[in-house]
Amino acid sequence: MRIAVVGTGYVGLVTGTCLAETGNEVVCVDINQKKVEMMQQGQLPIYEPGLEQLFHRNIAQGRLRFTTSLSEGIEEAKIIFLALPTPPGGNGAADLSYVLGAAADIAGLLTSYKVIVTKSTVPVGTADKVTAIMQQHIREGVSYAVVSNPEFLREGVAVEDFMKPDRVVVGTSDERARKLMAELYGPYVRQGNPIIFMDERSSELTKYAANSFLATKISFMNEIANLCERVGADVDMVRKGIGADERIGRRFLFAGIGYGGSCFPKDVQALAKSAEENHYDFKILDAVMDVNQTQKRMLVEKVSNYYQGDLSGKHFALWGLAFKPETDDIREAPALEIIDALLSAGATVSAFDPEGMNNVKALLGEKITFAENPYAALEGADALLIVTEWQLFRTPDFERVGSLLKAKVIFDGRNLYDIQKMIDCGFYYNSIGRKV
Ligand code: UGA
Repeated sequence: MRIAVVGTGYVGLVTGTCLAETGNEVVCVDINQKKVEMMQQGQLPIYEPGLEQLFHRNIAQGRLRFTTSLSEGIEEAKIIFLALPTPPGGNGAADLSYVLGAAADIAGLLTSYKVIVTKSTVPVGTADKVTAIMQQHIREGVSYAVVSNPEFLREGVAVEDFMKPDRVVVGTSDERARKLMAELYGPYVRQGNPIIFMDERSSELTKYAANSFLATKISFMNEIANLCERVGADVDMVRKGIGADERIGRRFLFAGIGYGGSCFPKDVQALAKSAEENHYDFKILDAVMDVNQTQKRMLVEKVSNYYQGDLSGKHFALWGLAFKPETDDIREAPALEIIDALLSAGATVSAFDPEGMNNVKALLGEKITFAENPYAALEGADALLIVTEWQLFRTPDFERVGSLLKAKVIFDGRNLYDIQKMIDCGFYYNSIGRKV
C-alpha cells in the first residue's frame, strides 16, 4: 500500500520505516529541508535500537523516501499519517496548530478518497476538529475519512513495539477506512494480538488513559518506596509480593526517581487539563504529578541529608543522563533536575552516559564536565549518584569504583545493586525504598 507520513520526528520515523518494512511504499514528508536532505543521504537523525538497519534497507530497496513537498508526498498515498508535534500550549493543553495546519493543507490538495490518520497524541475531540478544518478546504465531491490511531511504542524498544504491538487501537466510524486500516496492520498482529476498533473519541482517550495509568503505577510505587524507608520495609520485596497478583502485574512497578521523557509528563498534564476543561476534578492525576515532582528531587534530598545540608565544594559523579536506558532523550529527565539542584547548592558534577551526553552538552555547555567512560567520572568525586539504569552500570568493578571515589559513597536512584554486597564491599549505599 502507498502511505504518506507527515512529520519525521520520533513517532513519524519509526512509523514510516516500520510500515515500509512489511512492503508498503512510504513517503515521509517534513518541512525541515536540512533534515530531509540528511535522511535522503541515509543519515538517521535519532538514536533508536534496531531502526538504523531497517531505515537503510528500506531506503536502498526504494520503499522509503523523504521529501519536503506535501503534494508530492501524499499524491498517491491511500493513507496519510499525521505524526506532528503536539507540545503543551501555554495553559498545559496540547497545542494542535501543527496538526490542524497540516490537515488544512492536505485537504486543499486532495482529489480522491484518502484516509487521514492522527498518530500524534491528541486530545479527545481532535478528529472532529481535523474533520471540521478539512471540510473548509476540501474540493467539492472529494471524500475522506479522519481516523484516530494512537501510538503506544516505547523509546528504546520502539521498533519491536511497532512490529509486534500488544494491540492496535483504531478509532473510526468509516467502513472503508476500517478495512484499509485492518489490511495495513494485518502483518503486525499475526500472533493474534487484537486490532481494537472503536469510535474516534474513545480511541483518543485510550492513549491518555494508558499513559496516565502507567504514570499512576509509578507514582504509587514511589510513594510505597518512601513509606518503606520510614517503616523499615523493602520496596523490591513489596513489588514482588504485589506483582505476582495477575490483576496488578509484574511490570512497571519499579520505584525510582520519578518518570520523565517526552510522553508521561506531557500526557498526564494534558489529561488533567482536559478534565478541568470538561468540569471534572480528576484528583488522582494531580497527586500523580505532585508525587513525581517530589520524587525527581529525592536523590538530592538524600545526598543533602548525608552531608548535613551542606553540598558546597562537593564534587559528584553521575552515572546516567538520559531519562531511561537505550535512548539519548533527555526531555524531562530526572538528571536535569538533579544537576540543577546540585549546582545550585554549590556542588560540581562530572557525568557519564552512553548516549545522552551530547544532548546535555548542548543544553548545559560547560556547567558540568563529561567523562569518557563511567570510571573517569568517578575520579576525585565525593560520591557516585546512579541516575539511569543502563546495563553498563549494573555490574561495575566495585573495587575500582571504591578506589577512584574520594569516599566509598553511592546514592542509587534505580536500585541496581544488592544491599548486602555493597555493605561487604565497604560502601555507604543509599537506594530508593530499601534499607540503608
Ligand atoms: C511511554 C509509554 O510506555 C509508551 O507506551 C507510550 O507509547 C509512550 O510513552 C508515548 O506516549 O509515546 P516512554 O516514554 O518511551 O514510553 O518510556 P517508558 O519506558 O514508558 O518510561 C517512562 C518513564 O517511566 C521513565 O522515566 C522510566 O524511568 C519511568 N519508569 C518506568 C519508572 O520509574 N518505573 C517503572 O517501573 C517503569
